[in-house]
Amino acid sequence: MSRREKIYEGKAKILYKGSKPGTLVQYFKDDATAFNAKKKAVLNGKGVLNNRISEHIMLMLGKVGIPTHFIERLNMREQLIKEVEIIPLEVICRNVAAGSICPMYGLEEGKRLPRSIIEFCYKKDALNDPLTTEEHILAFGWATSAELDEMTALTLRINDILCGMFAGIGIDLIDFKIEFGRHTDENGDHVILLADEISPDSCRLWDSQTAEKLDKDRFRRDLGGLVDAYTEVATRLGILKQNPKAPPKLSVVSNDPNSNKDE
Ligand code: TMP
Repeated sequence: MSRREKIYEGKAKILYKGSKPGTLVQYFKDDATAFNAKKKAVLNGKGVLNNRISEHIMLMLGKVGIPTHFIERLNMREQLIKEVEIIPLEVICRNVAAGSICPMYGLEEGKRLPRSIIEFCYKKDALNDPLTTEEHILAFGWATSAELDEMTALTLRINDILCGMFAGIGIDLIDFKIEFGRHTDENGDHVILLADEISPDSCRLWDSQTAEKLDKDRFRRDLGGLVDAYTEVATRLGILKQNPKAPPKLSVVSNDPNSNKDE
């Protein structure tokens, strides 16, 4: 690993040059950050879980025709991906009010939105990734109108597919954030690919019956049990085998902030 050329290090992942031109290796760290890295921790096992969960979701989306950067998982923490030029926008899709939309519009957390809402944030840590609009995006040239249309259409399709996938395992997809990248394919065509990751770091996932949080809000809100919650998501997705000797999962994923030692 150390001999490879590091291209970029973000808060939760590192990118290295891949073995073939046009590829990168995406390494998932155990680091968790929130509030633009004002809050930080190392949560053992998070990177392994996110690598597996993101692989599962990217493969599933690929099978139903969503173009993604994912090529193959290399090992427990790394996946080979297509190199893209990241479009500097975080695309957020919300089905239920939670997080930043609540104080912004005076909404009660947990209220289903009248329809799925797509938001764009300008991806710029120094500015705290501000919410932005089509006007700003086009004026500042962060994406073209055609790219915005395509990202919006892909995001709505991804939302439909993921809502169905998670509903099947007793999880409500409350909201999620995705990123897209520009890529030139083998025919020389310019395409937009789903990039980055889709994992409980970048989604809000609530148990359908109990509304228990199975995502990074466990860390953001000091609820504890983040790794247990991600393990629960991975197990329900069929990625990890259920350990018959393990205690019932939902009692492990407790709301009691004192009951977990992983944060
Ligand atoms: P928000 O409610 O804090 O705006 O977050 C909306 C969704 O985006 C939620 O699923 C968490 C995800 N998200 C990220 O993946 N990265 C971020 O930096 C932020 C702020 C949110």
